[in-house]
Amino acid sequence: VRTGLFSQPRSLAPKYFYDHKGSHLFDQICETPEYYPTRTEAALLQEYAAAIIEHVQPDHVLEFGSGTSRKTRHLLEAARQSDHSMTYWPFDICSSLLHDVAGRLRSEFPGLEINAQCGDFTAGIEHLEEPGGRCLYLFLGGTIGNFDPIAAEEFINEIAAHMRPGDALLLGADRVKDTGVLHAAYNDEQGLTAEFNLNLLNVLNRELDADFTAEDFRHKAVFNEQDSQIEMYLVAEKQQSVYLGQLDRVLELEQEEAILTEISRKFSRQSIRHLIETSGLVETAHYEPDNGWYSLVLAGKPHLSD
Ligand code: SAH
Ligand code: TRP
Repeated sequence: VRTGLFSQPRSLAPKYFYDHKGSHLFDQICETPEYYPTRTEAALLQEYAAAIIEHVQPDHVLEFGSGTSRKTRHLLEAARQSDHSMTYWPFDICSSLLHDVAGRLRSEFPGLEINAQCGDFTAGIEHLEEPGGRCLYLFLGGTIGNFDPIAAEEFINEIAAHMRPGDALLLGADRVKDTGVLHAAYNDEQGLTAEFNLNLLNVLNRELDADFTAEDFRHKAVFNEQDSQIEMYLVAEKQQSVYLGQLDRVLELEQEEAILTEISRKFSRQSIRHLIETSGLVETAHYEPDNGWYSLVLAGKPHLSD
């Protein structure tokens, strides 16, 4: 927080959004008519889950940023339908959500072994337990787009390095589309995205003894065509000083000064493929809806002799 807030341009890492309240708000955003990514990805998973399970035959499904695991249920259900036994490893930064979700999944899927892990996937994944057997890694929801291009490549490289021949990665990424559609998805009518963005200030108040006043900021989300990304900001409505107790620093903001709280990159079919292939993985399947609004890519780790 110190590095981001006290340098220009000011920024905060998106992982701080997801306290208990933030996770709940994100879940509500996923239900809004404007936020198409969740519905679009869910439809693709529903359609292709059986084929994916059949193709990969995973012993373990490991998911980064699993959230409510709602869409993942399609894969769990497909495995159940085909009597395929596997273990599910959800990994998320929000412990309260992980706990609730694991409990609910255990009653919905009796017999499914669940090993929930709480942590920060930007802190390195080398410490993660490596279960024996074939692994299917999931990174859904377009969360890859919340990394800048270099960090995204590094993260896919890290996953690829963790994978063994026969393992697979299922990556969900949002695509470039009409600016109006993109803009609406990050500026929903109900104001849930605004509330979600502003909740970040409550997190800082609580965790760092800061004294931000949410009413003195407004939510802003714009599509930057040049960089093909949604940029989300908290904009100061007036000139102000904010004290961050745990940092023992005062943040001075001018009126209209903006803090970048998230980017959400929008890919082309080619740029996703490029991301996959620069890490040495091979695209096995590339699923997309007719309108090309979203990509779900299945990638494999080739055998050395391939
Ligand atoms: N996969 C879900 C949720 C996407 S939202 C979906 O597709 O709907 C992003 C998720 O990643 C949230 O659940 C959030 O808590 C988690 N997350 C964000 N940053 C993280 C980090 N650095 N480490 C671990 N989890 C993180
Ligand atoms: N990974 C999601 C995305 O980029 C996260 C997200 C959706 C989000 N809406 C948001 C994050 C609003 C912050 C604010 O689409």
